[in-house]
Amino acid sequence: MNDYLPHVYRDPLWCYPAQPQSSDGRIIVEIGPGRGDFLFHLASQHPNALVCGIELMHERFDKLCVRREKNKLENVWLIQGDARRVLPEVFREGVHEIHIWFPDPWPKRKHFKNRLIQTPFVQSCADALIPNGVLYFTTDWCDYAEWTADIIATNDRFESLNHPAISTDDDGTFPSYFYQKWRAMGRNIYSQKYKTV
Ligand SMILES: C[S@@+](CC[C@H](N)C(=O)[O-])C[C@H]1O[C@@H](n2cnc3c(N)ncnc32)[C@H](O)[C@@H]1O
Repeated sequence: MNDYLPHVYRDPLWCYPAQPQSSDGRIIVEIGPGRGDFLFHLASQHPNALVCGIELMHERFDKLCVRREKNKLENVWLIQGDARRVLPEVFREGVHEIHIWFPDPWPKRKHFKNRLIQTPFVQSCADALIPNGVLYFTTDWCDYAEWTADIIATNDRFESLNHPAISTDDDGTFPSYFYQKWRAMGRNIYSQKYKTV
């Protein structure tokens, strides 16, 4: 067990492998990796870092575990669960980057409460990240981009690295499955990037 991950996740959630591989100390987290295209890209780009994917859906988690084995990327650590719970319990500190790509938009007003980005969750991200850590957020949903920017602006641990905070420049955003899907449909992509102070 790495000493920078003192809070072992417990039943009823699943981790694969049960313990993360030790790394050079860098921890990169992706929330909602889905098929895992970006997660495995990150892992191959940073072979000495621990790259953790937190995925809510059991079926997707299972497929990610299979893909991890096929790709032989031992620095990938997979956790099945709701990131709103997993992040503060497992990663109370020490995370270098958090990536959130195309989270479910919950576009209807009555469902806004289901959105991942809420004030307490943003605080969990701030707590997890080291100083000068980076939070990435990308969506195809303009309203969700604005919602997120407004909430993050109220947290004084975050400073935007984009000016204005929401960028529609296609500045090398990784072509995750949903990125390609929405781009092919002609949708705009809204990206945000914040560092912790
Ligand atoms: C629209 S998909 C995006 C997948 C991938 N990031 C991409 O860009 O292709 C959203 C993913 O987030 C996962 N998800 C939704 N809510 C979550 C939560 N609270 N914690 C962890 N994962 C979540 C979903 O199961 C799904 O795999």
